[in-house]
Parts: sequence; C-alpha cells; structure tokens
Amino acid sequence: MATDYKPFSQACENNKAPILAVLQTAFAHATQVLEIGSGTGQHAVYFAEHLPGVVWQPSDMQDNLDGIRQWVNNVNCPRLLQPLLFDVRDQRIPEGNFDAVFSANTLHIMAWENVRRTFQHLATLAAGTVLCIYGPFNYQGQFTSVSNARFNDWLVQQNSESGIRDFEAVNELANGAGFQLQQDHEMPANNRLLHWIKTR
Ligand SMILES: C[S@@+](CC[C@H](N)C(=O)[O-])C[C@H]1O[C@@H](n2cnc3c(N)ncnc32)[C@H](O)[C@@H]1O
Repeated sequence: MATDYKPFSQACENNKAPILAVLQTAFAHATQVLEIGSGTGQHAVYFAEHLPGVVWQPSDMQDNLDGIRQWVNNVNCPRLLQPLLFDVRDQRIPEGNFDAVFSANTLHIMAWENVRRTFQHLATLAAGTVLCIYGPFNYQGQFTSVSNARFNDWLVQQNSESGIRDFEAVNELANGAGFQLQQDHEMPANNRLLHWIKTR
C-alpha cells in the first residue's frame, strides 16, 4: 500500500556532507551509480544533486521503496531514478551499466551470510567498477571506540545476526570478488568509508 510518509534520518543529515567529500573524488569518473540499501532515500537525493556527472539508482527491500519514492518525487533531478526493489538475497543484482556502487550502514544490519551474498553480486560487475561502503568497522577484532562497542550491543539486541563487521573479513570478501582497496577513509563519529576498485 502506498504511503505519503516521508521518512527521515538525522544520521543521514549529519554524514551526507563528509561522505560527499569522499565521493566527489572516488566517483569522479563514475556515470551510473547503484546504491544498495538506500534506506530513507535522503542520501540518494543529496548525492544525485551534488554529483552532476552521475545517474543515481537507489534500491532497497520492499518496505523502504515508498519512502524513497517520497524523497525522489520531491526533487527535480532527472539523474535520480525511481528506486528498484533489490534484496541482496535475490538471484541477480539489478541490470544496468553500473560503473560504481555505494552502500551506507548496511553491512552491520544484514546477516553475515547476506554480506557474503552482496559481494557475490558485486563479483558479477565489470572490471573498473568503483565500490564505496560507508559505516562502522572493527579492526583486528577490536571496536574503534566505546560508542561503537555500545552500538554493537544495541544492534545484537535488535537482531542477533546483526553486528559491526571486521574490516579484514569484509576486505577479504572484496578481494575474492575482484576488488582492490584504494583507500580506507576515517570519517566522523567513528565511521569509515572504504573505497575499492574492481581489477578483474
Ligand atoms: C541502517 S539502514 C541504512 C540506510 C541508509 N543507507 C542510511 O545510511 O541511512 C540499513 C539498510 O539496509 C537495508 N538492508 C538490510 N538487509 C538488506 C538486504 N538483504 N538487501 C538489501 N538491503 C538490505 C535495509 O533495508 C536498510 O535500508
């Protein structure tokens, strides 16, 4: 059932400008961006409006699509497409000539099996594809802050399959899918922005 409820995330408002500053360089040559797990749709609107060289394709699971449409329909940006239904458990990644993929705050929400599934999909993309993933990560099995440790406790209480992922484990999946890490950006509020390029 369609809704006119326009979702809002304060975290997106806080992190969108620092993320954009990285994407302006990482996606400098990108033309078609697939966003996985667009959430409210706020990031999609902001990045599409501020990255004039790209067409931005939001996607998410069914429950979020109406909310994303509310944001997309609220702006006049032809390079921002209507959201696609994409659950990483699906058989196939959406079709399109995507040369860049963005995802924020998704890997610690979905089960580890679905993180693996995400990289299986990414493995099917062409060499040269740029991948940027934003969120909190652990390093050498350690939380990077007390607040991330508390956040992880909260996540696991909500869903025992959620949890902050180890950078090394995610990077191993990325390597297996053909991606080489270009940069690991330190971001505000104990987050990271991981930037890979597909080399094979
Ligand atoms: C914490 S929200 C982050 C949303 C948005 N990217 C942001 O940064 O505000 C986690 C997102 O992951 C998505 N997600 C969880 N499991 C997923 C799956 N199996 N396939 C696709 N998206 C998934 C959720 O629907 C939700 O939009």
